[in-house]
Amino acid sequence: MSEKTSTKSTGLEGIVAGQSIISQVDPTGDKLTYCGYDAHELADKSCYEEVAYLLIMGRLPSQSELEQFKSQLVKERKVEEPVRKLFTQLTPDSHPMDRLRTVVSFSSMFDPDNGDNSYEANIRKAIRLVAKMPAFVAGSFLIPEGKELLESNPEFSHAKYFLHLLTGKEPDDFFVKVFDASLILYAEHGFNASTFAGRVTMGTQSDIYSGVTSSIGTLKGPLHGGANEKAMEMLLEIGEPSKAESWVREALAQKKKIMGFGHRVYKTQDSRAPLLKELNKKLSEHLGNTRWYEIGDTVERILKEEKKLFPNVDFPCASLYYLLGLPIQVYTPIFAAARTAGWCAHDIEQSENNRLIRPQCDYVGESNLQYTPIDERK
Ligand SMILES: CC(C)(COP(=O)(O)OP(=O)(O)OC[C@H]1O[C@@H](n2cnc3c(N)ncnc32)[C@H](O)[C@@H]1OP(=O)(O)O)[C@@H](O)C(=O)NCCC(=O)NCCS
Repeated sequence: MSEKTSTKSTGLEGIVAGQSIISQVDPTGDKLTYCGYDAHELADKSCYEEVAYLLIMGRLPSQSELEQFKSQLVKERKVEEPVRKLFTQLTPDSHPMDRLRTVVSFSSMFDPDNGDNSYEANIRKAIRLVAKMPAFVAGSFLIPEGKELLESNPEFSHAKYFLHLLTGKEPDDFFVKVFDASLILYAEHGFNASTFAGRVTMGTQSDIYSGVTSSIGTLKGPLHGGANEKAMEMLLEIGEPSKAESWVREALAQKKKIMGFGHRVYKTQDSRAPLLKELNKKLSEHLGNTRWYEIGDTVERILKEEKKLFPNVDFPCASLYYLLGLPIQVYTPIFAAARTAGWCAHDIEQSENNRLIRPQCDYVGESNLQYTPIDERK
């Protein structure tokens, strides 16, 4: 590999690393499609269960297929006893993403299809993972903090059940609609870092739990999913709309990164952000609390003017989740739970048309050094 090529591909920027029929991410930010369907329209008119079906099965379900899928998800919400016990062993000072990663990895041992990596078994495992994620997130977060994990109400949709577990209250329909839309927009996004990590894992003929475990570890970082928590911490630090402009200008002067802004693929806008911003506005007005929206709007304006940087999906989601009364430390685990449908779809796609993913590196270190026995070294 020539030096020029390796420099150009730092961080694999601009490299097409494979083919997929799961989602199309238009770099202009005009369009995002899931299996050919506009993700905005899905966020507006569909529900997370239908989108999970679409991503995993590759097509929209009929009415009866959707009903059956929903019942399967409800049935699979159950968390096995050893996993419940594991919740109590997790330490409250650990990061909730570390806890979630541990729980998902451990739970593979209780999956009846463990060891079977056929297409059919992978579909069943994907459905189980999607169904159990809300309890994995809530249980691994709440129990180490000395709180309770509520029982599932089978009448509740996936989004309602998830919000109920996290807040301990039965959420109103508007909250559920907004949360559901955020889960749909978090569900899938091409060869992002966590999905790619999962595909690399699947490419060795490993298994879907290992793929999702790799993905969770990758999503944790603040340059990826961890940005939604950091973005909310920033909004809280700014505190008041009147302080937003000076805070951002000062941060930029100090060459600080503003979390929730910028994107590797989108160089103008992230297609998901405007819709989430709109939902954020509606929710703020519904609650009579526009403080976070106003701060966010100012931060957005200054970054656009000064750096031509745009908010990504994590920025509007941060204050959206805050307004929904969710603790900041579960924002990235929520992202993980939503993205599980996309991760599993990619892991299955990789497995069905597999070739080991193994790039090369351009060695730039020394060579021909003489080995000196240790007792002769200075
Ligand atoms: C997403 C991200 C990792 C993309 O990174 P990338 O494609 O490698 O882009 P770079 O980090 O090389 O950034 C290119 C330039 O924009 C600047 N930039 C990018 N994101 C920025 C941000 N959030 N705040 C301030 N400056 C930023 C960089 O400092 C760099 O400027 P320079 O050329 O003057 O050095 C990056 O934008 C980022 O760190 N964003 C904040 C974290 C975040 O929100 N992650 C969630 C992504 S969905």
